[in-house]
Amino acid sequence: MIDLQHITQRYPTPEGGVFYALKDVSLHIEQGEIFGIIGRSGAGKSTLVRCINFLNRPSEGTVTVDGKCLNTMTEAELRASRRNIGMIFQHFNLLSSRTVFDNAAFPLELIGMDKAKIKAKVDPLLDLVGLTEHRNKYPAQLSGGQKQRVGIARALANDPRVLLSDEATSALDPETTIATLELLKRINKELGLTIVMITHQMDVVKQICDRVAVMNKGIVVEEGSVIDVFRRPQTETTKALIGNIMAQELPGSMLERVREQVAGLDKDSVHILRLSFVGSEVTRPVISEASRMFNIDVNILLGQVDEVQGKGFGTLTILTSCNTDTFSQLLEYLRKHNVTVEEVTSHVL
Ligand SMILES: Nc1ncnc2c1ncn2[C@@H]1O[C@H](COP(=O)(O)OP(=O)(O)O)[C@@H](O)[C@H]1O
Ligand SMILES: [Mg+2]
Repeated sequence: MIDLQHITQRYPTPEGGVFYALKDVSLHIEQGEIFGIIGRSGAGKSTLVRCINFLNRPSEGTVTVDGKCLNTMTEAELRASRRNIGMIFQHFNLLSSRTVFDNAAFPLELIGMDKAKIKAKVDPLLDLVGLTEHRNKYPAQLSGGQKQRVGIARALANDPRVLLSDEATSALDPETTIATLELLKRINKELGLTIVMITHQMDVVKQICDRVAVMNKGIVVEEGSVIDVFRRPQTETTKALIGNIMAQELPGSMLERVREQVAGLDKDSVHILRLSFVGSEVTRPVISEASRMFNIDVNILLGQVDEVQGKGFGTLTILTSCNTDTFSQLLEYLRKHNVTVEEVTSHVL
């Protein structure tokens, strides 16, 4: 649906040098998926998302949306193509002198649609986003979540095939964020809309994205299905972004206790493992079974269950002490039962 090939965006620096906001970014986003692009502030996310509708013309690289290459389009063709791509923003960008209805109707007025048709189009949209009773209010009379729903209705007015969301929930409180994400998910399902979610919040990715690309300093450092990225984060950037919600780090007080516990043991026999698993894939009581099978003590240091892509996703940090042979059998056993294992002994001790 969206194909970005070797996108580079250069900006001149005040000192006369060159700054790379994007460096050779290639991404393919499938029809109907919710694709997350996550990264810290300044990573290049907004620059990238603006390349998808050519609000930024990239210095290098090609952009293809819905089978059409934007690079070779005339301005008129670009304008038409942009109608196929709705966009929502962190600060909503509503017109304060227009009512809810008139804000949602604005893109249709721009293309000269007549009033009756506009009403026929906008009424169901306001219904879809749950704003029918607020249709005559002005933005100043609305809550943040309601304003964003006006933004969503406006973005959908032209029946786009793609919705770009640039930090659309970043200015909302957690509850409103959840409700807004649920609405986007529903729109994705009901309208078959492809959604690109730009965010710096892993919670957003966790709640609604199918796949995710992680950006750092203008580069895509990691990409994959959300569950895989959560399961096996490959880069420090991703680990740091996930870390906040998956509590991979042992708290300081616990570190001290662990160090005391293992002080008397043979150092080579001590293993601290971070296990992660998707609940539905692990159908056996692996920890107690392993403990019995291999005759080892397993000390659970930290555990957490979360929901990723609607599935129960657990992480467990365990401490065990055993010989090399038993350890490799333990690893084999756990992996055979769909548990992802990462040894973190050296990080902890
Ligand atoms: N028009 C511009 N001119 C110069 N630098 C820019 C311009 N737009 C963005 N940048 C720089 O590019 C980098 C990436 O910006 P941006 O895409 O907005 O990041 P993000 O959305 O991930 O926070 C930042 O360092 C920003 O200052
Ligand atoms: Mg941004």
